[in-house]
Amino acid sequence: MDIASCKRDFPLLHQIVHGHRLVYLDSASSSQRPQSVLDAMDNYYETTHANVHRGVYAIAEEADRRYEAARTAVGRFIGAPNPAQEVIFTKNATEAVNLVALTWGRQTLKSGDAVLLTDMEHHANLVPWLMLAEERGIELRWIPMGDDYRLDLTDLDRLLDGVKLVACTTMSNVLGTIPPFARIADAAHRAGALVLADGAQSVPHLPTDVRSLGCDFLAFSAHKMLGPTGIGVLWARQELLDSMPPFMGGGGMIADVRRDGFTTNELPWKFEAGTPPIAEAVGFGAAVDYLDAVGMEAIHKHELSLTAYALETLAQRFGDDLRIFGPATTDERGGVLSLAYRDIHPHDLAQVLDQQGVCVRAGHHCAKPLMRRLGVNATARASLYLYNDESDVDTLADALAEAATLFG
Ligand code: ALA
Repeated sequence: MDIASCKRDFPLLHQIVHGHRLVYLDSASSSQRPQSVLDAMDNYYETTHANVHRGVYAIAEEADRRYEAARTAVGRFIGAPNPAQEVIFTKNATEAVNLVALTWGRQTLKSGDAVLLTDMEHHANLVPWLMLAEERGIELRWIPMGDDYRLDLTDLDRLLDGVKLVACTTMSNVLGTIPPFARIADAAHRAGALVLADGAQSVPHLPTDVRSLGCDFLAFSAHKMLGPTGIGVLWARQELLDSMPPFMGGGGMIADVRRDGFTTNELPWKFEAGTPPIAEAVGFGAAVDYLDAVGMEAIHKHELSLTAYALETLAQRFGDDLRIFGPATTDERGGVLSLAYRDIHPHDLAQVLDQQGVCVRAGHHCAKPLMRRLGVNATARASLYLYNDESDVDTLADALAEAATLFG
């Protein structure tokens, strides 16, 4: 990968903050966008905007074409067998998980049924199930995390007994851990359960194929993969989507409405009530085009080597002063580095790093049960993406050294 040329494609990265080069290390929270994504959205608004699935005039038909082409591009990106039917545009990954809980979950789960989660889930893949547990009296179970920051699958078969759904991340947003998802999915299916993948952190960084993952549902967001905010995806197998009731009611999701009821539209529109995020879909399409052009294998390889460099550099320079919550090697691990540095509070640390132009996220990272398991309230988290390089890691290390001077 030519990182220098890649960096040039991202206008936001070329600014000076507090007198320093901006070093963006918060892509797990939200990535930046290349010029091609910004241009695609501008061009759409400048030449084409009209509502979709309603107009018969030329620009409306072109808006339809661009919106549906984006759906197909995103579907192909994840290996969807039927991209035109199975990719549902949502607001974000959170809405995609809520869609499953509120349609499939409400239709299927009854008191006493169990849903299996893991110790490393983001609130987006926890709270919808907690809400359903409260409403329906379903049981929630947890795959535990071992001291190596990986899921402990020793009791998986016992945990799966009586489970209707396994909802599991494909990469922890706090630890970078990549769970053995296909193995979990396989065991779940043998036990008669369906499997939901929270792909928010992995789809932007790893080649994704829904068939080899073995999931029945996959949720992810555009804004973490070079696309705009306000759009995400629920992918599910077509026969599941066909069997599920609609999510929200309104225009677009109906075939007919009478005074005494309604019938739903075909897939995927059955799940897309109201005017959808059209320009955002166009930007999302351009984002996956960009990722495809660079190549997901190349991006993954680059991030693996950069993560190895970061783990080694930080260990060498700071030794026991710096704790990294996450697997010690790059094996089955992404470029997310959750840090505890000396006794400096993560928020203070993030502020000092900002003074050096370095952007990291500090807090509980929307994973409070995991933070409790780690025994901390917060961490400072640096996360890497295709536009980061070794000089960014070096700047992070220099800024950490500067923080040590400041806090004494
Ligand atoms: N889920 C995002 C993060 O981990 C917001 O920062």
